[in-house]
Amino acid sequence: MAQRYVMAIDQGTTSTRCIVFDSNARLVSVAQREHRQHYPRPGWVEQDAVEIWRNVDRIMPQAMRDAGIGADQVVALGITNQRETCVVWDRHTGVPVGRAIVWEDIRTESIVGELAARPGADEVAARCGLPLATYFSAPSLRWMLDNTPGLRDRAERGDVLFGTMDTWLIWNLTGGVNGGLHVTDVTNASRTMLMNITTQQWDAELLSFFDIPHRMLPQIRPTTEIHGRTTRVVPGIEIAAALGDQHAALFGQTCFAEGETKCTYGTGSFLLMNTGTKLIRSEHGLLTTIGYQIGGEPVTYALEGSIAVTGSLVQWFRDNLGLIHSAPEIETLARTVKDNGGCYIVPAFSGLFAPHWHSEARGIIVGLTSYITKGHLARAVLEATAWQTREVVDAMNADLGTQTRVLRVDGGMTADHLLMQCIADVLDVPVMRPMIAETVSLGAAYAAGLAVGYWPDLAGLRRNWHLAARWTPQMDPDTREDEYSNWKRAVELTFGWAKP
Ligand code: G3P
Repeated sequence: MAQRYVMAIDQGTTSTRCIVFDSNARLVSVAQREHRQHYPRPGWVEQDAVEIWRNVDRIMPQAMRDAGIGADQVVALGITNQRETCVVWDRHTGVPVGRAIVWEDIRTESIVGELAARPGADEVAARCGLPLATYFSAPSLRWMLDNTPGLRDRAERGDVLFGTMDTWLIWNLTGGVNGGLHVTDVTNASRTMLMNITTQQWDAELLSFFDIPHRMLPQIRPTTEIHGRTTRVVPGIEIAAALGDQHAALFGQTCFAEGETKCTYGTGSFLLMNTGTKLIRSEHGLLTTIGYQIGGEPVTYALEGSIAVTGSLVQWFRDNLGLIHSAPEIETLARTVKDNGGCYIVPAFSGLFAPHWHSEARGIIVGLTSYITKGHLARAVLEATAWQTREVVDAMNADLGTQTRVLRVDGGMTADHLLMQCIADVLDVPVMRPMIAETVSLGAAYAAGLAVGYWPDLAGLRRNWHLAARWTPQMDPDTREDEYSNWKRAVELTFGWAKP
């Protein structure tokens, strides 16, 4: 019998990838395409959902060609995606009503401010597990409804559909205007601010608070679930899982036990701890989210520290400042100096997320003297990621009354050894990276493979986790504390920068 495989689509913030895995979790083929980012005004970030769909249309067949396999050899497809990014489209034509509003976009700052002052605002976090912030889907969706002529009427009539990228892709893959499924999973729904974190249903109070018509929302389903078969691009493949990319990384890192934690370093960085069936409400600026839900079992919760800008700061350094030609060069440049020379960069490009939640904060570079070179700036760029990680780890320790002992890491930035060493140094804990760096795609593949019995259980998946690299702390405690207090002073300078 021909060998069988699992396929994952990872629809990320900057690109979409399709990866084929074999039963040993080995990567057989990868196809990837980037999509354009649109910045029509300061703080606005948009994407074209049709461009993303077309990319899927090209990379799925390409990944299968490269693997030399047919649709009958793909036992399941798992879809994972950038979370919160909001698309609305016409169900009769399949055409989006405008560009997707991306999770980094801060145009809804004033909407969020107004909502925060309204009755009922105090209850929002208790219902959905999230603080009121521009980051999540509900304010973006509300902005679309308020600013697209006629959209609210069309939504109330059931003519337009809302979705995060999982929903948009599943609808298209399962038929689009010809009966596409309008579904999402609990992890993605838990990022909208519209789902009740306890019942995992759309919450009538939240819908009324944000003034969102229920008719436009997808059905919420478990993470592992056979949604249906693809009828387009490559017909006949079972879509057996959907989950947000950070939840997929938690799954791919096999953080199945309570207390296990991972941090994924991509455009932004996201630290998630599995908290089991316990719903923990943070008192230190973290989010309560759904880790995953396997079939009809109770959900597994997670605590999350979301950092908006990490890899995207390196991109900015490359594209906007032109100080390097490629992202990996940041490490080489940073190694030309022995320390930051007193310089700190706080990249509050989308305000500051966890643990601060200051949407009016704006980025700064401080400590400039004529001594500072581009090498020092490169170091400050990398250190910004490390200190932001320290802030969310501190918040997690404070919420749980425990000490993090080890951090599992993944994502593109983990190729940077200087950065990984710096993270171990500032956290004062070992940092470990697994052999399979494609943790997000792997998590989506694992979830889909579990749903169809390709992999029998979680214990089997754990056996695929092998250590590739480990960084141990080397910084002396006094330097660590000095540097941390400088970082904190720099962060405070960003607060309140944008005028109301
Ligand atoms: O919440 C946003 C996050 O899901 C984006 O992840 O890897 O696409 O930057 P990434």
